[in-house]
Amino acid sequence: MREEIARHNELYYQQAAPEIPDRDYDALVKELAELETEHPELVTKDSPTKVIGEKPQEGFRTVTHTVPMMSLSNTYNKEELKAFDARIRKILPEHAFGYVLEPKVDGVAITLRYEQGKLVLGATRGDGRQGDDITKNLKTIKTIPESLKTNSPPDVLEVRGEVFMPKDGFLALNQQREEEGQPVFANPRNAAAGSLKQLDATIVAQRPLSALFYAVGEVKGLLIDTHQELLKLLKDFDLPVNPKYWSSDTIEEVLDALDELEKIRHDFEFEMDGGVIKVNERAFYDELGYTAKSPRWAVAYKYEPERAETTLRDITVQVGRTGILTPVAELEPVTVAGSTISRATLHNEDEIARKDIRIGDRVFVEKAGDVIPAVVCVKKDARTGKETAFKMPDTCPVCGSTATRREGEVALRCENLQCPAQLKQWLRHYASRGAMDIDGLGDALIEQLVDKGMIKSPSDLYTLKKDDLLSLERMGEKSAQNLLNGIEASKDRDLWRIIFALGIRHVGARSAQALEEHFSDMDGLAAADQDTLLNVPDIGPIVAGSITAFFALERNRDVLKSLRDTGVRMKRKQSATPTQGPLTGKTFVLTGALEGFTRDEAAAEIRARGGTVSSSVSKKTDYVVAGESTGSKYDKAVKLGVPILDEKAFRELLAE
Ligand code: IVH
Repeated sequence: MREEIARHNELYYQQAAPEIPDRDYDALVKELAELETEHPELVTKDSPTKVIGEKPQEGFRTVTHTVPMMSLSNTYNKEELKAFDARIRKILPEHAFGYVLEPKVDGVAITLRYEQGKLVLGATRGDGRQGDDITKNLKTIKTIPESLKTNSPPDVLEVRGEVFMPKDGFLALNQQREEEGQPVFANPRNAAAGSLKQLDATIVAQRPLSALFYAVGEVKGLLIDTHQELLKLLKDFDLPVNPKYWSSDTIEEVLDALDELEKIRHDFEFEMDGGVIKVNERAFYDELGYTAKSPRWAVAYKYEPERAETTLRDITVQVGRTGILTPVAELEPVTVAGSTISRATLHNEDEIARKDIRIGDRVFVEKAGDVIPAVVCVKKDARTGKETAFKMPDTCPVCGSTATRREGEVALRCENLQCPAQLKQWLRHYASRGAMDIDGLGDALIEQLVDKGMIKSPSDLYTLKKDDLLSLERMGEKSAQNLLNGIEASKDRDLWRIIFALGIRHVGARSAQALEEHFSDMDGLAAADQDTLLNVPDIGPIVAGSITAFFALERNRDVLKSLRDTGVRMKRKQSATPTQGPLTGKTFVLTGALEGFTRDEAAAEIRARGGTVSSSVSKKTDYVVAGESTGSKYDKAVKLGVPILDEKAFRELLAE
């Protein structure tokens, strides 16, 4: 059992890819603990019941914690909470004390050390005694302050808490990874853990991570009497804490509060797997003491996972937004967390092989990130031998083209741009605000236009007649006219927008702008060879290769020709990019989200006036344009004294 648990520890902590649900893992550990109680002679010092299974990660400096970082004992059982209370009352018979209940965040335990109010170290828990120095990674997390908000900082304050990936960020990240053919994360916790293990902090910076804090390690120059006080103190220092907690005098009140918490368990921005109950009065902590792994003054209560068992009837294949073939589990409908699930993504072939999923299996389903139905594992002991293995098809199930696996990717793709599944995606991209910006051409409309065969390529948009549109569902006279106006207006966009809208792999809006600056028209770009492309600033061999491959395909050249025939602008608007303009010689850095512009639009406005846009703030930066939710660039601008423009000031500057 020890070996088995050690293997699961390795999967969970080191690889961030657990094979079994937490509930099953907890049950294994519990069984081992019971065996050890019955047979004390069999207990070893390194038993998983005694040590935390997280090992140092290669590539990071190992740090020794000044105060050990413990774990918590956990239970799924309210009777055990009453026993927890009884034990404490026995040790503290004469004393009055209370409890605090906090949501239990399902994330990655970390510690931060502030000296004189400045963040000097951030580390993982590791085995509780020693962890990894991940200061650089943690500094990229926007909710972690670099200095405490106070005029009289304590000499030392170590805070312990949890890094997590908010559920919405997790969904967006997985969607992006799916589109890029990367393996997706199984749940927000794995995504957070996997992100913090990155050796390159710039990757971590792109991951939507957040943190909150609930305990302290070493403290010098501060007195904290109660846990409630501690939470308030952390909050005043600008350290994020749990959005909600309950304080109670008795365990019965705690049990009621747990029921209340369970009702709102899905309402938090993070995935929550239970509640943590702590004695409020810190003065009793030493007296209550510690086991090998955890304090006796706190316990975690976990809710039963909202998991259901059902039969996997079939596996079908869906063609996703970028032509990726995704296997989908067709399930016997079953209710999980209040809704009926009949399908769940299986992500890719590797994932199916890893979980050994076969058609006909009894499977357990859960909701990852509280929303995506997912097959967690197979109930292997329910197999009858009639289950059949699944193999991905060699061809796209929608258009029949050969499916290919790109180098370095796990996913199979249909590369046929005319595939209806792909065409819809292409049209979405083509019409999007960052590309051709066609007002009124939404997803529902695209579905209809493609499914009815009215559109076979983006150029067909320009030949749509009002009567065609009026035959569609929910299409009135007025919206039809608006859409036609939107389509007409898109004929006269900047050259970079149509380059971007073509959806050439790896050509983002920024590369498209670089291409516009270099080639004054589409013909020049279409005729360019690899070497010519490599002379364009910002264009590397991968992008260049992808551009030549795109224009080499006859069907793409045909689309281009039809677009031109319908009157779409294929030339740069200005005769030449003004090297002279009101912003000539000025360097800008953009940070945060602007309301009235996408990043690329803002950059285009700056370039059109002769200015340059850079991606990092330095002393040479003239202005930082800051929108909503800015991060480290903003802080750096403040530090270096670079003028910061909000959106209004930026507009005024453009208007000047
Ligand atoms: S208190 C001395 N409070 O859950 C240990 N832990 O399963 C103090 N966790 O090891 C821990 N939310 O990593 C505490 N509100 C919370 C928590 C919390 C999540 C984590 C923590 C702990 C694990 C136990």
